[in-house]
This record gives sequence, C-alpha cells and structure tokens, in this order.
Amino acid sequence: MPSQLSGIFQTAAGPLRWLVQSDAAAFQSASDAPLAWLNADEARFWQALKTDKRRRDWALGRRAAKELLAKFILDETSQSVTYEQIVILPHADGWPIVTLPTLGAEAPAVTLSISHSHGRAFCAAIRGRDLLLGADIEQIERRSTAFVEEYFTPLERRYLAAAPEEQVDTLANAIWSGKEAALKAIRRGLAEDTRIVSCLPHPAMVIDPEWSPMRIVWNEERLARPMPALTGRWRRSNNSVLTLAYAA
Ligand SMILES: CC(C)(COP(=O)(O)OP(=O)(O)OC[C@H]1O[C@@H](n2cnc3c(N)ncnc32)[C@H](O)[C@@H]1OP(=O)(O)O)[C@@H](O)C(=O)NCCC(=O)NCCS
Repeated sequence: MPSQLSGIFQTAAGPLRWLVQSDAAAFQSASDAPLAWLNADEARFWQALKTDKRRRDWALGRRAAKELLAKFILDETSQSVTYEQIVILPHADGWPIVTLPTLGAEAPAVTLSISHSHGRAFCAAIRGRDLLLGADIEQIERRSTAFVEEYFTPLERRYLAAAPEEQVDTLANAIWSGKEAALKAIRRGLAEDTRIVSCLPHPAMVIDPEWSPMRIVWNEERLARPMPALTGRWRRSNNSVLTLAYAA
C-alpha cells in the first residue's frame, strides 16, 4: 500500500486538494525531525505541547499540510516555497490558520483542515479565506451500542440498524468521521452536540476505494441557529475512513 495518497476534485468553492500521509513517509530520517522544517513560531508552539503523542500528531499533521500546501502554492502562483515558509498556527479554538509571510501581497488565502489518527494524517485545502471545510480520518474499529446511542441521531441509528452486519463497523466509523468533518467545517468541533447533524454515508460504496457521497443533514430539532448546507464525501483507505465536508 502506498504511504501517501493525494488528489484533487472540484467543489462549489473551487478545487479541493487533499493528502493522506503516514508518519513513515513524513519523517524519513533523524534529520527530518520536526524542528528542521517548522518555522520559529511553530517550533515554540510544538515544544510547549504537553505529551510526546500530542507533539508527534501535531507535527505529523503539519508535515502533511505543508506538503499539500507547497504543491498547492506552486500550482496557484508558480512560486516554490519551503516548508518553513508555510506557517500553520492554531486559532484559539483549535482550527489551523495558514500564513505565508514571505510571499507578501502575492500570498494566496487558503482554508485548511487537518486530522490525524494512529500515525496517519489527512488534510485538505481550498483557495480562499474562511471557507467551509472539514477533513477527518478515523481508524475503523468497533463502536459500542452505548457510543452509538449517546452520540448518533435517531436517523443515523436507523440507518445503521438497517446496514448489513459486515458493513456496520465501517459505516459507524464513517458516520462518526462525517460528524467530525461537518463540525470542523463550521469550526466548532466537539464544542457542539454531535446530534445536531446526521451523516449518512452512501452504503453501496463500502468496498469502493474511490470517494463516495455522504449526506449531511442538520438536525433542526437540536439547532440553536441556522447552519450552512454542506456536501460530504467519504472513502476507505487501508483500515481507515476519510471524510470531507465542504460548502454545498
Ligand atoms: C476538532 C476536534 C473535534 C478534533 O478532534 P480529534 O478527533 O481528536 O482530532 P483530529 O485529529 O480529527 O483533528 C484534530 C485537528 O482538528 C483541527 N481543529 C481543532 N479544533 C478545531 C475546530 N474548532 N474547528 C476545526 N478544526 C479544528 C486541528 O487542526 C487539529 O489538529 P492539530 O491540533 O494537530 O492542528 C476536537 O479537537 C474539538 O472538538 N475541538 C474544539 C473544541 C475544543 O476543545 N476547543 C479547545 C481548543 S484548544
């Protein structure tokens, strides 16, 4: 299996570029240690993170995002940038903010989303500032009945109850991943109740290695304010599901 997978597809807001990378591909040698390619402000943030796992995940996500964005910037502006020139720092609420200080007025605005799970990072970017975009990766694992009852909507529970037994784990993780992607797209994450949104992955595609549709439906009964229409896509990659949510 390749340790890196990437692609691009059209959305209403323009081309969406995405990339999945494993830590083996991201950190190939000792000289590839995070500090070598982080900008000074990123390195300070990285050093202040509390655990080795958090530092590893944070660096893995940054490394994948910088690889994606370097290609993105080359395609969009014909300018080559080093990883150090791409600065990805978190907003106070956690979502990633991209700046390209060395490009000055030439710098394209970018919306980025990052996810990491079990040594793999998934990221996606669209040109433009403050767009709706959420990316999520989840390793496929058994989700307990208690988990489904607590976090899934009645619509999602009915959908899962009707799924063939051999697809339940994949679909349950796709639903959960869809929720995280949708809640990242509105930049709230798990600060929101996960039952404000129903995510319904196209079931016929469980074994399809390409992107498949996912319906994202806001649950009016639990919403305190209107939410933007989102389009979803999901796919399997090795033993994980990847999900994207973006403007419909
Ligand atoms: C967003 C969230 C659901 C992701 O949780 P997760 O499943 O553990 O992690 P994932 O690997 O899929 O995603 C993590 C990435 O989501 C992004 N993210 C974090 N908060 C986000 C938000 N509010 N909106 C959009 N994206 C967010 C970050 O890029 C983060 O990776 P990084 O910190 O390494 O840059 C979770 O972090 C969350 O709910 N955050 C918001 C609430 C919160 O705790 N706020 C305090 C932030 S300091």
